[in-house]
Parts: sequence; C-alpha cells; structure tokens
Amino acid sequence: MLSRFQNLVTAKTGIALAAAFGLAVSATSVHADAFADRSAAMKEVGAAMEAMGKMMADPSTFDGETVEAKAGIIATNLTKAKDLFPAGDVPEKSRAKETIWSDNEGFMKIMDGAIAAAKATAEAGGEFDQDGFAASFSSLGKGCKGCHEGYRTPKKQ
Ligand code: HEC
Repeated sequence: MLSRFQNLVTAKTGIALAAAFGLAVSATSVHADAFADRSAAMKEVGAAMEAMGKMMADPSTFDGETVEAKAGIIATNLTKAKDLFPAGDVPEKSRAKETIWSDNEGFMKIMDGAIAAAKATAEAGGEFDQDGFAASFSSLGKGCKGCHEGYRTPKKQ
C-alpha cells in the first residue's frame, strides 16, 4: 500500500511540475512501466496491420470503414509510442536497441513518417479510395520495417 501511495505522490508531483512548466500533461506522460505500455501499443498496431494486410492480399475484401478505424488506431498508438521510450529503458524482455537513443532523431523521423502514412491510410479508407489505400499502406509497412531493422534487436531465443 505504501509504495502504491508513494507512486501516486510521485505521479502527482510529476504532473504538478510539468504543469508548472507549462508542458502538456496527459495521463500517459507519467509511466509506471513504459515497456509494458509500448509493448501493448505495438501489439495493437500489429493486429490492425494484419487486418488491413488481408485486404491487400484479397482486394475484394476491401472495407473502407475498417481501414479508417484500424489505421486510426495505428496513428494514435504510434503517436503515444513516441513518449514510451524513456532513455536507456531496456528491461530483460525488451528488444529496444541502443540506437533509439544514440540516433533519436532518426528514430523519431521514421516514427513521424509512419504516423503520417497511417493518417493517409485512414483518410484513403474514409474516402473508399482503394488505390490510395494500397499506396499508403505500403509506405506504412516500410515504416514498420525500417524502424524494426534499425532500432530493434533480433528476436530473443
Ligand atoms: C520508429 C520506430 C518504430 C515504428 C515506426 C514501428 N515500430 Fe514496432 N517496435 C519498435 C521497437 C523499438 C519495438 C521493440 C520495443 C521493445 O521491445 O522494447 C517494437 C515492437 C513491436 C512489436 C512487438 C510488441 C511486443 O512487445 O510483443 C510489434 C508487434 C510491432 N512493433 C509492430 C509494429 C508495426 C506493425 C508497425 C508499423 C505499422 C510498427 N511496429 C512500427 C519500433 C517501431
């Protein structure tokens, strides 16, 4: 109980400090476990990507509304993920690579590119624009791949 209380106090102090400096404060800006949060966010991103991948594999199943929703989840979660890699946070299960922090500019650039591609994908879905979907979905996929190749360590055995 005591440590729970202390966590709460620390969280509140953090929020108060951030507010004092005029920073934007959201519940996600105080992380008890950034790894668990980013892992959950990325898993949702993976599931959303898989759902859309099926429509790429079989274009007759294209469903603009679902694309809009799934790509929207990806844009939201990747935006959250930007704040979920505190420097040097590599717990045992994590595959975060040191390059995330040694080349944070490159990391954030790929993240922003992927977020933009996710938004474009959502937009194409909303407009039932299947060609637009195919193009932006492909560039989104390149974003995932590019970041995982440069900023994630190989799968642990
Ligand atoms: C800018 C970097 C970046 C982008 C863009 C990115 N990821 Fe990730 N992703 C990571 C990193 C780093 C990890 C490993 C995090 C860790 O283990 O601490 C990860 C982990 C994951 C995981 C494993 C989660 C788990 O813990 O089981 C999945 C699934 C995933 N990403 C899917 C995706 C998909 C799909 C996309 C594209 C739509 C994507 N990611 C875009 C950096 C990125």
